[in-house]
Amino acid sequence: MNLEEKFDHLRRRNHEAELAGGVERIQSQHEKGKLTARERITFLLDEGTFEELDKFVTHRCTDFGMEEKKIAGDGVITGYGRISGRSVYVYAQDFTVFGGSLSATQAKKICKVLDLAVKNGAPVIGMNDSGGARIQEGVESLAGYGEIFFRNTQASGVIPQIAVIMGPCAGGAVYSPGLMDLIFMVKKSSYMFLTGPDVIKTVTHEDVTMEELGGAQTHSAKSGVSHFACDDEKTCLLLVREVLSFLPSNNLDAVPIIKTEDSPTRSESKLRTLIPENSRQAYDMVEVVEAALDDNYFLEIQKDYAQNILIGFGSLNGRSVGVVANQPKVLAGCLDNNASNKAARFVRFCDAFNIPIITFVDVPGFLPGTEQEFGGIIKHGAKLLYAYSEATVPKITLITRKAYGGAYDVMASKHLRADINLAYPSAEIAVMGPDGAVAIVFRNELAKAKDATVEKKRLMQDYLEKFATPYKAAELGFVDEVIFPELTRPKLVRALEMLKNKRDRMPAKKHGNIPL
Ligand code: HXC
Repeated sequence: MNLEEKFDHLRRRNHEAELAGGVERIQSQHEKGKLTARERITFLLDEGTFEELDKFVTHRCTDFGMEEKKIAGDGVITGYGRISGRSVYVYAQDFTVFGGSLSATQAKKICKVLDLAVKNGAPVIGMNDSGGARIQEGVESLAGYGEIFFRNTQASGVIPQIAVIMGPCAGGAVYSPGLMDLIFMVKKSSYMFLTGPDVIKTVTHEDVTMEELGGAQTHSAKSGVSHFACDDEKTCLLLVREVLSFLPSNNLDAVPIIKTEDSPTRSESKLRTLIPENSRQAYDMVEVVEAALDDNYFLEIQKDYAQNILIGFGSLNGRSVGVVANQPKVLAGCLDNNASNKAARFVRFCDAFNIPIITFVDVPGFLPGTEQEFGGIIKHGAKLLYAYSEATVPKITLITRKAYGGAYDVMASKHLRADINLAYPSAEIAVMGPDGAVAIVFRNELAKAKDATVEKKRLMQDYLEKFATPYKAAELGFVDEVIFPELTRPKLVRALEMLKNKRDRMPAKKHGNIPL
């Protein structure tokens, strides 16, 4: 071959690799309303920034006539590129090649990208669309998964790992996304489960569809496995780009600065009247959170799961923050098993990636009941305590109304080393609500009283005035300042600015033993 012929040869091989499973399979992918792996990568990354690796890699299997069926790339496209100018690593399984199934060589390609991402400290985004382990390769494929799981674990807390599910993800394959930080799903075209509907029918005789069992809605609202359920693939990929804008590239980087025109001293008069005077009445904590954040923008995560607690990202005077907030609109904002798990994992994620945590508190306590107790509220609640206690990032807490009992301690109290604790004048901080407290403490007095109802009312009023205020906590320094609600944003901005250079660390240890 002369030089021109060699160039032609390369062009032809590139073209073949880019066609992957062929025109028909690409068409079938499009007919299902799905993009191809290559289209996904192109759409996700900044234009023209994708650099592909291992384009000509093929499998080594010689069983079941596989030596006759080799397709360049072997069902996964891997490489690196940029999102909003920042370096990222990507892989996208290609369903047009053996159903995107994972061979030993496909696993090697994914591992190469994971290793590069860790070494160079940049996020990795994996797009999953696969029939699972390559059946023809048996244990070699299982070994490949094992290598990926191991790397996901090693990379955890070092670089952000994002899983985007854009088709099937079944069997043990779900554990790679399961080990990553955030899972994005697409409604009606992606699903995740360990055992499919047919196996379930045989074993437990339950009838369930793929969508009911492992669709985006199921994992967003019921299991809490997924963090986002998007309407279509493009919306999903745009959201991945947006979420990354709040994250540093790795655990040693500072949080990104997000452009804003919003004034750091903006006050919000609506906050003066947002908290109802009757403390039994609900309000929407999202309004408080939005009023505080830059451009009133709060990017909520796991919106449909454990809605009694809110988690998500925003920024304060341009600095990315993680928000945790009780939601009085749902279960009165009580902490339960799911809410504790949801918030604990998020707090640890923020801490791992140097993202300051702002906590908004309105919590009447832990949700009572056998369901919660039998479900392990002791260990789940302890996870949240643990997560807040070990977090060394700046922690700022604002109590808007209730902070009762154990839940007061849990929700980033001063005692768990929150740096700045603020409270509205409407805050109520006590061991328990007035009803229960008076019934216990004044049982004898009430029994002897001429009119127990009148006496109870009087005692409750007394209790409320003495304990259900922020002032006892403020006198003890557990609350640093009682603030006017309209000043929420400027107070949070200043506290965050003050904590900019915070240095804190946990005692040296191999690792702690979080109550899993
Ligand atoms: C090899 C596979 C494959 C697999 C699909 N294909 N899955 N090849 N290994 N696991 C191939 C098909 O033969 C077909 O090839 C092409 O991919 C497209 O598959 P279809 O069945 O035509 O597509 P569709 O009808 O859309 O169904 C998709 C599917 C189905 C639901 C994913 O293919 C399926 O059920 N696959 C098997 C899933 C499975 O049980 N995997 C093992 C899970 S256990 P052609 O040449 O015809 O285009 C597991 C363990 C992991 O993964 C353990 C980790 C520890």
